[in-house]
Amino acid sequence: MAFPAALRRQPYRSRPRQDRRRSWPSRGGGDRNLDRNWFGALLTSVGQDHQSEGEKQEGTARTAAAAAAHLPAMYAETEPGAAAERTAFRRAEKQYKLYKPPSRKGRSKSRSRGKQAGGGGFGGGGGGGDLSAVVDFHALLAAGKGELPAGIRRCDRAGFHLPVFCFLDRPGFYFIPGALSTEEQCYWIRESLKTFPQPPNRTNLTATYGPISDLLIAAKNQKILVEVESSSGKPRDEQNNVGENAHPGKFKFVDDSEIQKEERPKSTMAAALVRKLRWSTLGLQFDWSKRNYDVSLPHSKIPDDLATLAKKMAVPAMPSGEEFTAEAAIVNYYGPSDMLGGHVDDMEADWTKPIVSISLGCKCIFLLGGKTRDEAPTPMFLRSGDIVLMAGEARERFHGVPRIFTEGDQQDISGLVSELSDDDDRFILDYIHNSRININIRQVY
Ligand code: OGA
Ligand code: MN
Repeated sequence: MAFPAALRRQPYRSRPRQDRRRSWPSRGGGDRNLDRNWFGALLTSVGQDHQSEGEKQEGTARTAAAAAAHLPAMYAETEPGAAAERTAFRRAEKQYKLYKPPSRKGRSKSRSRGKQAGGGGFGGGGGGGDLSAVVDFHALLAAGKGELPAGIRRCDRAGFHLPVFCFLDRPGFYFIPGALSTEEQCYWIRESLKTFPQPPNRTNLTATYGPISDLLIAAKNQKILVEVESSSGKPRDEQNNVGENAHPGKFKFVDDSEIQKEERPKSTMAAALVRKLRWSTLGLQFDWSKRNYDVSLPHSKIPDDLATLAKKMAVPAMPSGEEFTAEAAIVNYYGPSDMLGGHVDDMEADWTKPIVSISLGCKCIFLLGGKTRDEAPTPMFLRSGDIVLMAGEARERFHGVPRIFTEGDQQDISGLVSELSDDDDRFILDYIHNSRININIRQVY
């Protein structure tokens, strides 16, 4: 049964890469009616090297002052100074965003503190510059059933083969540590880079370049995407393909040697574009500007194997006797300094169905907050292969990813590294060393 309409939030959301690039992706004051300005502001910090027309069009609220000062535009507009940190959720976001691992000397000390915390207290938004408040479900699993801290319990389901954790005071939230084997993780990482961004699925790059086919192959082959007709030319759908590698629209992949140096067309390395991927949408396409699903957009159905996985993993959160149907998915790609600001996922009709959220690649901190940003969130580690389910009441909770852990902290992906040892996987291995991918799968209706 769906939640009564009165309890539902107005749809709002923002996701594109820009919202993760800034520390404070949301307006203050617990204002849930996040408006176009906010949305637009999130869309303004495209890599300093490149901001295309399409990307600009999506963002409508950039202020010259903010741009000049390299400040998040929303701060410049509405949130000077400490106002942006006035909620517990934002304070936690900031704390973890700014967290720096201790120097080598202090490292082992801090690690053991972290371990204790895995079996110790939680909540309160964390303390100081350490990670001692971050719940570590892998540590809890290793510690065994008897060792659970207050407020956390096992909620294994009969017939579901994996251990499941939940919080007593956060019904509808389920954590399945290590749900995917290393092989499965590698498979989904490859799919996330190779298959999921393929048209008709849209990505954050689509607005700028039109549909891009075979981006990963182009990146492996060191291709360059060049503009073959300026954006002031004919509309995309009237243009002809140019040459064998042409793409519908005004861009095509070429070899370096093919570029006319004297003409210097707008060009971007395919490999750099892979790094610029911030989201792709599968199945029913989400329209970020309307912040809702646009069923009129061309789409293909969720791949069968992903739908099957989601159905299987959704079980602990499903009303008994019902099955999860995957209708849409959002794939998030996080680079080293990217974050996903606190938000609520409320665009789907039936909140009794969970969002099935798969973590791949680098470890991150996930914040699970309350129904307002005033409630201090519970921080927890999400690692490659973990799956989180959010259903019912949990869908009303603010959550986000303030921080991913790269470079210095690679022990968590060592399994992936050895699995991705093929020559063919070299690009993917390089990518995943400092990236995180999240696939979150939704039943829309
Ligand atoms: C989302 C989301 C969390 C994550 O995409 O809505 O909350 O783990 N993602 O990246
Ligand atoms: Mn979410």
